[in-house]
Amino acid sequence: MKIAVVGTGYVGLVTGTCLAETGNQVTCVDINEQKVKMMQEGKLPIYEPGLELLFHRNISQKRLLFTNVLADAIADAQIIFLALPTPPGGDGSADLSYVLGAAKDIAKLVTDYKVIVTKSTVPVGTADKVTAVIKANTNIECAVVSNPEFLREGVAVEDFMKPDRVVVGTTDERARKLMAELYAPYVRQGNPVIFMDERSSELTKYAANSFLATKISFMNEVANLCELVGADVDMVRRGIGADNRIGNRFLFSGIGYGGSCFPKDVQALAKSAEENQYDFKILNSVMEVNEIQKKVLVQKLKKYYNGDLKGKHFAMWGLAFKPETDDIREAPALYIIDELLKEGATISVFDPEGMNNVKALVGDKITYGADAYETLNDADALLIVTEWSAFRTPDFEQIGSLLKSKVIFDGRNLYDLQKMIDLGFYYNSIGRKIIN
Ligand code: UDX
Repeated sequence: MKIAVVGTGYVGLVTGTCLAETGNQVTCVDINEQKVKMMQEGKLPIYEPGLELLFHRNISQKRLLFTNVLADAIADAQIIFLALPTPPGGDGSADLSYVLGAAKDIAKLVTDYKVIVTKSTVPVGTADKVTAVIKANTNIECAVVSNPEFLREGVAVEDFMKPDRVVVGTTDERARKLMAELYAPYVRQGNPVIFMDERSSELTKYAANSFLATKISFMNEVANLCELVGADVDMVRRGIGADNRIGNRFLFSGIGYGGSCFPKDVQALAKSAEENQYDFKILNSVMEVNEIQKKVLVQKLKKYYNGDLKGKHFAMWGLAFKPETDDIREAPALYIIDELLKEGATISVFDPEGMNNVKALVGDKITYGADAYETLNDADALLIVTEWSAFRTPDFEQIGSLLKSKVIFDGRNLYDLQKMIDLGFYYNSIGRKIIN
């Protein structure tokens, strides 16, 4: 099939590349000339495991092209994906100006039937708005389809190539057939392509992410209670996760959820409920709990150092909002850095992928280690902020000898409590007994 992808951000690039991988002819279009030039030269602007191989393969086989010219990208395309940003506007609702702007530009160019797919996370009713913009700018019949993405950063290629499900919202029969054909190679294991109306599809995306965020905030509250009653959240997690109705995934307590999706989507769904005169009470609590949870590690430090962090020096392992990504959007690390600097502490950080992004934002207010161990020199304590695999089995002897004192605050529960007792560390994690 011939596909155009408008917007080469994270979602657009993964979508375009993975669609080319099954033999489609894909042209990605972006207004950023420098970025397009870079991609035409075979350079991938984002870090995502597994993407580079597919990106190069499909470029070299000329199935994946890049351009600045919208008209060129959509001329032959049967399906046009809109993978454009929908940033939160001032009031928390998603800003649709990019999506609607692109719809208008496309409408002015089309000469035959096109399926226009919104891939961005958009509020309920957006397909209708896009349809209205298209109709206002062309007499050619087009279908507007909602097809939310459920990609997780770090495993996005796998998620795209073998999705648990694909959700397609359309009431147009021709569009439905084309979408079914497009996704057939990706659901060969029998996973479903679930067809529904546009509004249900749009809401599905928000409900999925908000439900997962709710699971996390719930477990964070359970963890906080565990600390007060002397229970262990890891045990409780295993105990409840073994119940199929609950499921054992997304039950890890920590220092709050971050990233480009959960915070934005929970906020947008709450806003959309409010606009419809519905008070979505659980969502408000989910957001409130997450704000509190981002402060947990700093609260623990303050308690340990009797409220005074001035002059303290901390080593921080992890900056990205989660492992296997360089993404620091809404990362708890940024909040922690900010708070510690305000308290007069100094920080030395290491992250396998996220350092450049943090450098661009925070600059020389903190220092950056060449590797994880370099951050430990003369530090009063080690803070674990992102659960990178490389931090899971570190050289504890080296940690103990480089730190001023053997103190670890772990926001991701990476280490076994008995091991910490045996090694003689002070070890303070989330929802578990403090080892000292
Ligand atoms: C998420 C959704 O999973 C994906 O379907 C959607 O398309 C985009 O948003 P992503 O933001 O890449 O994906 O990250 P995800 O792996 O879902 O993690 C989100 C946040 O939740 C991270 O900050 C992570 O640390 C946190 N989290 C996740 C927990 O705190 N505990 C868990 O058990 C799982």
